[in-house]
Amino acid sequence: MVQNKKIFEAKDVARGYALQSHLQPPEETILRELLPHLPTAKMLDIGVGGGRTTLHFGKWVREYVGTDYSESMIAECRKRFSGYPDSLKFQACDARAMGMFEDGTFDFVLFSFNGIDCVSHEDRAKILQEIRRVGKPGGYFCFSAHNLNWAANLFEWRRLLSLNPKFAVRTAKRFLLRCLYNWRIRSANFRDAAYLIFNDGAHYRQMQIYYIRPQAQLEALQANFTDIRVFALATGAEIKALDEVNRNEDVWLYYLCRFK
Ligand SMILES: C[S@@+](CC[C@H](N)C(=O)[O-])C[C@H]1O[C@@H](n2cnc3c(N)ncnc32)[C@H](O)[C@@H]1O
Repeated sequence: MVQNKKIFEAKDVARGYALQSHLQPPEETILRELLPHLPTAKMLDIGVGGGRTTLHFGKWVREYVGTDYSESMIAECRKRFSGYPDSLKFQACDARAMGMFEDGTFDFVLFSFNGIDCVSHEDRAKILQEIRRVGKPGGYFCFSAHNLNWAANLFEWRRLLSLNPKFAVRTAKRFLLRCLYNWRIRSANFRDAAYLIFNDGAHYRQMQIYYIRPQAQLEALQANFTDIRVFALATGAEIKALDEVNRNEDVWLYYLCRFK
């Protein structure tokens, strides 16, 4: 997944992220819910990119640290927020090794817009351990992750071969993505997998992205986190029933939980 980092280090990619400013629907819901806790919170915004979330969360918290493993992203943030108060800080840091922060430092950790999906399965586990370490017991962790259920649209032949003319272009694109870039993945592997890493077409088809079943994501969180909740991308609403979470096919989902 070294290629993923190279893409985020490109100056034009970082500039593109620095132009973004809108929250996604679940981020809006979660911001509203956490608002009463934010004025006393020290927040860590991992994979801050161009500072899209800084705009919305930075003004509410007591202290804010945005980190990213891409120096170009950090440079964009420093430029974008140069006139802002000193309580906003930006530091280059890889989420796999956050030794620069002591245990139990943060009341709220955010890793938005699927940044956690850019690393391998083993590194994802390391990141979750690191986040647990730097988070204060009782504090909050929010992140989003690609939903492997969505990928039925790529790996289930029945769906790929839809003859509905309304979706002809989309179907053709997905068919190409499957055949040219993900030819090793078979429908049966897809159906049995708890997670898969594949090329989903992002960033001009140059990235390998981790997709996980919601149920597997919930299981991976249970050892270190509690009060785990899931929010739909499409509506921003919490999905309360477990069977609905497990059946959901939004392309990614937001998870909100607390540090044990
Ligand atoms: C899709 S972008 C999202 C940027 C920003 N959070 C937003 O919502 O606009 C993912 C970000 O995660 C960062 N990232 C990916 N893996 C990382 C890691 N291991 N440590 C720190 N940052 C990482 C990338 O450099 C990139 O800026």
